[in-house]
Amino acid sequence: MTTQWIAIRDLPAHTGEKITLCGWLYNLRSSGKIHFLQLRDGTGTVQGVMVKNEVPEDLFNETKSLRLEASVEVTGVVRSDERAPSGVELSVSCLRVFQNPEDEYPLGKKDHGIDFLLDHRHLWLRSSRQQAVMRLRDRVIRSAREYLQNNGFILVDSPIISGSAGEGASGLFEIDYFDSKAYLAQTGQLYAEAAAAAFGKVYCFGPTFRAEKSKTRRHLTEFWMLEPEVAFYDHEDNMDLQEGLVCHIVAEALNHCRPELAVLERDISKLENIKPPFHHLQYDEAMEMLHDLGSNTPYGDDLGNEDETILTQQFDRPLFIECYPKAIKAFYMKEHPTNPNLVLCDDLLAPEGYGEIIGGSQREDDYDRLVARIREEGLPEEAYDWYLDLRKYGTFVHSGFGMGIERVVAWIGGLQHIREAIPWPRTIYRIKP
Ligand code: 4AD
Ligand code: MG
Repeated sequence: MTTQWIAIRDLPAHTGEKITLCGWLYNLRSSGKIHFLQLRDGTGTVQGVMVKNEVPEDLFNETKSLRLEASVEVTGVVRSDERAPSGVELSVSCLRVFQNPEDEYPLGKKDHGIDFLLDHRHLWLRSSRQQAVMRLRDRVIRSAREYLQNNGFILVDSPIISGSAGEGASGLFEIDYFDSKAYLAQTGQLYAEAAAAAFGKVYCFGPTFRAEKSKTRRHLTEFWMLEPEVAFYDHEDNMDLQEGLVCHIVAEALNHCRPELAVLERDISKLENIKPPFHHLQYDEAMEMLHDLGSNTPYGDDLGNEDETILTQQFDRPLFIECYPKAIKAFYMKEHPTNPNLVLCDDLLAPEGYGEIIGGSQREDDYDRLVARIREEGLPEEAYDWYLDLRKYGTFVHSGFGMGIERVVAWIGGLQHIREAIPWPRTIYRIKP
């Protein structure tokens, strides 16, 4: 191809030049003598202005019949325009139509219900709001990786198909695996632990699966989890790492995603508060506070979504809740040194009612205790023989955590529901498109 297309994002640098761009028609308004074409190409939008007596009559008439989302190549001179959000507009002299849709574009300007939008997710992604969410997601992932890489971590990915459960036997997706059964990963953690014994500081990052029948604003059946794991880090070191990572991600969103956060109408001041030190409560203290706030959740239970919401509304920064009862947490967590009923773990809750974005713990490094926990939980011991080997050959204090990417994106973007934070949401009732 010989044509040099210019991205809409880069137009201001070409002010005064005649350029060509490729994209889609986002909106079209016409007065009798002028067409105003809102054009988008994925990098931004720009208004193209086509004046009747400056272009061939055929072109002017054909343009009038364009439908939304027609794919086009447009040539014109870039002019600065103070009123335009991008600072420029395009005086259109030439327009080539790749395709003018035969049917009306299903996603018009009218308010569609959420089910209709989700059914049309493949088209909905073109909207300015969804573009803002996906760019924010991209930035969250990039900055998370960057933070870990800059701090000496190496990426060691975990398998998606596995013979053993990670988080416990419930909520597993079982698949036929030749002549046996296998499971889709709920977590990459157990593999990350093995990798930490090989490399020290590692992380894995990939899709994880939970067959929970939760219909909340915070649950997907497929979500992306970033899981750092560090040799010789204890519970405290683990929380410091979480705090550093989350602060970096928020700072980078503020550095790079101002336009996106503006589209999402996010209150930036709330994000500017996200600085160390985060708040800390022990599980016991959190329970007491919840009871004062009117919660009925009994001591010993996990916090419900509602509990997390009311608790985090009390704080302007993320909140660590530490040391939950052993009985409600996963088998691999390290027993508390002075209270055998508790474990050395933390949940990090995002403010403004968003709730848990990270779950982490120091891992049980004692062979006998770990075997006992596996038996207590009724887990198949033989599936964990390799995991137990890590406690047999050079056992080591180590800790790690999992951060749910969609939960973080929903919080930073101020989204109502996590399903907007992933390109193709999977929930109990949705696996299409
Ligand atoms: O607290 P979870 O279940 O922890 C683990 O899976 C650990 N094995 C992680 C580790 O220590 N390496 O999940 C971790 C995070 C949660 O805090 C939440 O952000 C996210 O994963 N998450 C979900 N996100 C969307 N939908 C769901 N159903 C989720 N379940 C967990
Ligand atoms: Mg959790």
